[in-house]
Amino acid sequence: MIVIQLIEADGRVHDIAGKAGQSLMRAAIEAGIDGIKADCGGLMTCATCHVYVDEAWAERLPEPSSDENAMLDMTAAERRPTSRLSCQIVLDEELSGLTAGIPDTQY
Ligand code: FES
Repeated sequence: MIVIQLIEADGRVHDIAGKAGQSLMRAAIEAGIDGIKADCGGLMTCATCHVYVDEAWAERLPEPSSDENAMLDMTAAERRPTSRLSCQIVLDEELSGLTAGIPDTQY
């Protein structure tokens, strides 16, 4: 089982389960996480799935595509060096333990 830790803007911490091949956004939606809205369903047109990946984990992810980069420039919350769209993070066993925070603009 892949376990991801999501920290909501108010400090609530959730350990959510994901499956290999599933996006972090989809796992968060299935777990009922408030701060991941994902209005576009993963089509990379809304940026309401923005997360701040923990630094130690961010460098283990593939670089964002140019489309993801462009969307990250338009997020409601400030873009940080470890900002990612959770719909573009594809889970695998190697990512079990990844930690990410949710911006306070997504509530
Ligand atoms: S779900 Fe819309 S950009 Fe990720």
